[in-house]
Amino acid sequence: MSSKKNTGVVFEHVRKEYAAGQVPAVDDFSLEVRPGEFLVLVGPSGCGKSTTLRMVAGLELPTGGSIRIGERDVTWLPPKDRDIAMVFQNYALYPHMTVRENMAFALKLRHVPKDEIARRVAAAAETLGLKPYLERLPKALSGGQRQRVAVGRAIVREPAVFLFDEPLSNLDAKMRVEMRAEIVRLHHALGATMIYVTHDQTEAMTMGDRIVVMNAGRIQQAAAPMEVYEKPANTFVASFIGTPPMNLFPPGVYDLARTVGVRPEHMRVAQADDAAAAAAPGALKATADIIETLGSETIVHAVVDGRKLSVLARVPGAAGVAHGDRLVLVPDMSKAVVFGSS
Ligand SMILES: Nc1ncnc2c1ncn2[C@@H]1O[C@H](COP(=O)(O)OP(=O)(O)OP(=O)(O)O)[C@@H](O)[C@H]1O
Ligand SMILES: [Mg+2]
Repeated sequence: MSSKKNTGVVFEHVRKEYAAGQVPAVDDFSLEVRPGEFLVLVGPSGCGKSTTLRMVAGLELPTGGSIRIGERDVTWLPPKDRDIAMVFQNYALYPHMTVRENMAFALKLRHVPKDEIARRVAAAAETLGLKPYLERLPKALSGGQRQRVAVGRAIVREPAVFLFDEPLSNLDAKMRVEMRAEIVRLHHALGATMIYVTHDQTEAMTMGDRIVVMNAGRIQQAAAPMEVYEKPANTFVASFIGTPPMNLFPPGVYDLARTVGVRPEHMRVAQADDAAAAAAPGALKATADIIETLGSETIVHAVVDGRKLSVLARVPGAAGVAHGDRLVLVPDMSKAVVFGSS
């Protein structure tokens, strides 16, 4: 498997129009996924994430551009010849087969020798904590265990590239966090190239070596998570990545021509009678609206005087602020992002 660790994926101007004349689902998508990289495609519903992944898998054919896996141009190859394995949201396990049979099935079809199948299934079951469940049917498993079997089916194929399409969406919040860690661990253990689709920006931030933010079929930004967070390429990325989202101050508030972004954790909250705060650069007078107390931190929603502008501030611990309080909001301008004329 060591040679496979050098397999990257290259997209060149990939385009997909499901129907002629329609807005393309994926448009001019160019990207180099590095060998061994964990790349996350993230974006809102309908932005073209699954279409992009399905074109790597060969389940959809591009209407323009090309895709290479390693040295091979796979643009027109059938799925079985691409050396990929895909894990879907809805597991798609065979209900009448045991966990062991589900994992072994694709290898049997490929006439992999029996002892080799047994070895790979045992190794995958060990990695995924599925040993106690090998003889069970899928209906006797929890959602998280089923998802693990689906991942196991991909592992045993020892593909050059793993493709995940929202694999954790059907799980409850706690299980999602656990499986997230497990998939990251798996990536460390296998060192294989993985492309992971999600609409969940937290999954993207926590899992990806690199994040590709998509909107309306186009790449908005491709960068490491912290770079996307600290230096969003445009206002779409700024409001999509980060919870609560970045404050976007329209032209006129801080800059006559451009939008200025400040993350909620870079907004200081002071009482209105704090003269030093009121005199600080960029200080805005505001009224406290909703206060969300989360324990470790508090999210303060405030409305800026004279504008219908709601600003979010994220304060460690308790904010000591109540609904209706008169406030001064002070941005840390050294952390502000200035956008183009958007
Ligand atoms: N088989 C299809 N035929 C026609 N249009 C399609 C088809 N599949 C997807 N589309 C359209 O292409 C666009 C991108 O869809 P895609 O499934 O790639 O989005 P997505 O980012 O995966 O969204 P989600 O987060 O909802 O899964 C959407 O506008 C969708 O309606
Ligand atoms: Mg999708």
